[in-house]
Order: sequence, then C-alpha cells, then structure tokens
Amino acid sequence: MTQPSRIAPQSLHSKIMSAEDAASLVHNGAAVGMSGFTGSGYPKAVPLALAARIEAEHSAGHPFRIKIWSGASTGPELDGALAKADGIDFRLPYNSDPIARQKINAGEMNYVDMHLSQVAPMAWQGFLGPLDTAIIEVSGITPEGDLIPSSSIGNNKTWLERADKIILEVNSWQSEMLNGMHDIYYGTALPPNRVPIPLNKPDDRIGQPHFKVDPSKIVAIVETDAPDRNAPFSAPGDTAEAIADHILEFLMWEAKRAGLPPSLLPLQSGVGNVPNAVMAGLIKAPFEQMTAFTEVIQDGMLDMIEAGTLRVASATAFSLSPEKAEYFNTHAKLFRDKLILRPQEISNHPELVRRLGCIAMNGLIEADIYGNVNSTHVMGSRIQNGIGGSGDFARNGYLSIFMTPSTAKNGAISAIVPMASHVDHINQDVQVIVTEQGLADLRGLDPKKKAALIIENCAHPMYRDALREYFERAKKSSFGGHTPHDLREALSWHQRFIDTGSML
Ligand code: COA
Repeated sequence: MTQPSRIAPQSLHSKIMSAEDAASLVHNGAAVGMSGFTGSGYPKAVPLALAARIEAEHSAGHPFRIKIWSGASTGPELDGALAKADGIDFRLPYNSDPIARQKINAGEMNYVDMHLSQVAPMAWQGFLGPLDTAIIEVSGITPEGDLIPSSSIGNNKTWLERADKIILEVNSWQSEMLNGMHDIYYGTALPPNRVPIPLNKPDDRIGQPHFKVDPSKIVAIVETDAPDRNAPFSAPGDTAEAIADHILEFLMWEAKRAGLPPSLLPLQSGVGNVPNAVMAGLIKAPFEQMTAFTEVIQDGMLDMIEAGTLRVASATAFSLSPEKAEYFNTHAKLFRDKLILRPQEISNHPELVRRLGCIAMNGLIEADIYGNVNSTHVMGSRIQNGIGGSGDFARNGYLSIFMTPSTAKNGAISAIVPMASHVDHINQDVQVIVTEQGLADLRGLDPKKKAALIIENCAHPMYRDALREYFERAKKSSFGGHTPHDLREALSWHQRFIDTGSML
C-alpha cells in the first residue's frame, strides 16, 4: 500500500477509499477521461473494479457501458478488462488492446481514431460532449495539493480541467524521482486567443512540474502499488537491423548533404518493434549530443542516454519494456535531468514539430507504389491500432521516414502494393520509405519516378516482378494519367489475400 507521505495534504485523507467504492461513483453512460499513454501511467485499480461492477450489472440484466477518452493506448487492466466486460460503448483516440480491437472490428464498440495532438483542443471546442469523470494516476500529491504526474502525461491536464468529478489513483510503484521531470504548459487557448508556444529547443521547460487541480472536484483517492505494463520488445532481428542500418546510412548522407549539425535534428520515433530497433541502432551513429522531441521514450532512448549519444528526450510518456521500467525505477537519478514529459498537445504540437525540424520515423502497414501510406487498416477494413501521433510528426517534420518489413505474415503479404487499401499518410507527407531491402528517398520526385524507386529499392524480390508488370500495364492503360492505375487490378492483390490467404 502507498505510504501516507505520497498524499501530503491531510485534508484529502478523508477521500481515500477502495477501488470498488471509487468505481461505484461512475454511472452508466458516463464519459470518462482516463490517464494513460501506451502501457504507462494509466489507472490500474478503479478500471478493474469498474469492469467487475459492469459484469455484475450485466448479469443482473442491467445495461452498463461507458465512453473512454484517454491519451493513447493503455494497459490490460483498463482497455482489456473493460472491453472483456463489454463495458466500452465509445473509445478515442487510439487503441492497441487486442480484445478492444476485435470488438471494434466486429462493430460492437464505437472508435474514433484521431491525431493525438488534436484531442485536447477538440475536447475544449466542446463537440466531444461533456466529460463526467476523470480517473487519473498520479505519483503523489504535494503539500500545496498539486498533483505530481505519473509515467505519462497524455491528456491529463485537459481531463482534470474538463471533468465534473475526479478520481485519483496514487501509485507508489512509480518512482518518486519522477517529481520534477514533467513540464505542464498552461498557456494553450482556442482561436482567436492562441499565442505562439514559447519552446525553441527540446530541452526548454515552459511550464510547471505539477498539475493544478480544484480539490472540490476530487471525489475519491485510491492508493495503489502496481507496475506499468508494456509488452516487451522483441529482440531486433535481421530485418529490423537491416532497416536501422539503411536509416543510419541515409541520415549520415543527409547530414552531410544538408550541412546538419553534429547533433542532427530532434528525433521522433514511433511505437513498435521496428522503431525501437532503429533507436537501438542509432547508438552506433557518429552523431553527438542528439535530442529527441517525440511521443514516447522507449528502451532504445534510455540506452542512448546512458551511452552519451542522446542529450535529452522530450515526450509525453514512457513506453518501456517491463525490465527497462524496473531499471528506470531503480536508476531514475541517472535520467532525471535528461527527460521531460509534457502534455501530448505540446509533445506532438505541429507548430513545434515544424519549428524544431523533427526527423519523424514511423511504422506502416502498407505503402503503394506512389508513396501513399496505410498505417492503420489491414486489407483496407480492419483497424490495427490507429494513426496515433504519426500524422502530427509526418506532415510537419523536417524529414518524414516510414519503415516496415517488406512482407508480412511469412511472405503472404507484400507491404508494397499497387494501390494502398486505405491511406492515412498521403504521398505528400511521405518523404522516405525503408524496408530491409533498401531505402527510397522520394523527395522532389514525380509519381512515376517514385514508383520506380519504391519497387526497385523497397519491394521484396518475391513481389518485385509483379509490381513492375502492374506499373507497366497501368502506364499503358487507355486512361493514362499523372499517377497511372489500372482500377480493375489495383486492389486485386488484397482480394487475392482475402480469398486465398496469400497475395502471391
Ligand atoms: N497486412 C496485414 N497485416 C500486417 C501488415 C500488412 N501489410 N503489416 C503488418 N501487419 C501486421 C503484422 O503481421 C503484425 O500482426 P501480428 O501482431 O498479428 O503479428 C502487426 O501488423 C504489427 O506489425 P509489426 O511488423 O510487428 O510492426 P510494428 O510493431 O512496428 O507496428 C504498425 C506497425 C504500423 C502497426 C505500428 O507502427 C502502428 O500502429 N503505427 C500507427 C501509429 C503510430 O505510428 N504511432 C506512433 C506515432 S508517434
């Protein structure tokens, strides 16, 4: 159990209660703003108690479902448990939980997949509707009654301000050394009152370390001692290492070509095994004192900080494997002045990404020969996760790199296809595509030149001839065009996979 010292104000001790009692304060149909970003900083006890309550209500024949707004994905005690209890009616802005994914794709859960920088402004614009309750994990409460954030910030500032009532989870598993790592900026506003965000370097601190909160809105405080839960990363295999090597070689070439500084430009790395491996690969890079202005701090970044290659990382959350999270908790002092966690409307702010000139590196599901990217939908229909922050960074960065293994499902699927079955990054936002086969720098190329380069450099040899033949037929088709397609064939690879289990 939490030591009482984590909740400094005596005046709040009367609000300490069990997770079950706190869960009973959430009503059927409520919109609930949860903390949490990847498997970090999400409430762990109240959602589990709420899931049990929902199951009991359903068994008694009573409907009970809630709307969940969060920072991004959360952990199994939240999305997993509530989805399993069939307790989620509506979800935004991102999900990677497998049970929730299955329900979303079966049409049993409404899901709005959003650019992560836009969630807070849209909540303030009001069209998401009222927010009944905020359930927020913190790592402590100061004597002044301010909240010491946990291992993610996400949209917590907005939920604390917008919600009618607040339930806090004070998690003593979180390192006390988190205190002081956060930078909560209170200067955002809606047009016409917006002003420039005064941040010029990833290291700049422009806000305060704690959340302000109206104590009269706090209806419950639950003490927990529970670990964050992120899935372990798979060890970088040959494919991920080859992708990392291509990116490293390209960045060295680009730094020379463009006269970039020895520290390069601030890095953004997306979620997933491959981006994590790329960060691990950058340890070998001949750059010094690099910075990251990104969304999540992954294992690879802590390694880079320890190796001295990364000077500072600004993000909105940790996204560490269980081993690295334990390591961080016992060695937090080493990283304390090198990590800054901010609200996601700031970590992903398009104005800042453009000004700083981030190097955006994100994963994709498939890319078409013209460089349009699908990073969300399998076979054009089934959502995998969501766009997350990739759009915030890809459109606005100095460089926008997308990476993927050239095939999926043991070669049955080509990641390079004639026409993407869904597009969430238009070709204008995609400057570089990388697979283990090679890298295509698409900047300044017209569609036909892009197609030739993507097919020759990125496609798997197993699919290269078929792509070449498609491209030639499309060019010769009677309709012709600036971006030639043969519409009878363009999506036939996907249909073949659906019909036969292989694109071949
Ligand atoms: N067709 C069908 N399935 C595909 C596929 C394709 N073309 N490409 C990948 N997949 C499947 C994989 O088989 C795997 O499925 P599994 O879990 O059943 O094994 C899954 O998608 C994940 O692919 P993986 O190769 O392990 O890559 P990853 O972990 O790097 O994730 C994305 C890739 C695109 C799913 C992930 O990067 C993502 O969700 N991106 C969008 C959000 C984002 O970029 N957020 C960060 C911004 S800061």
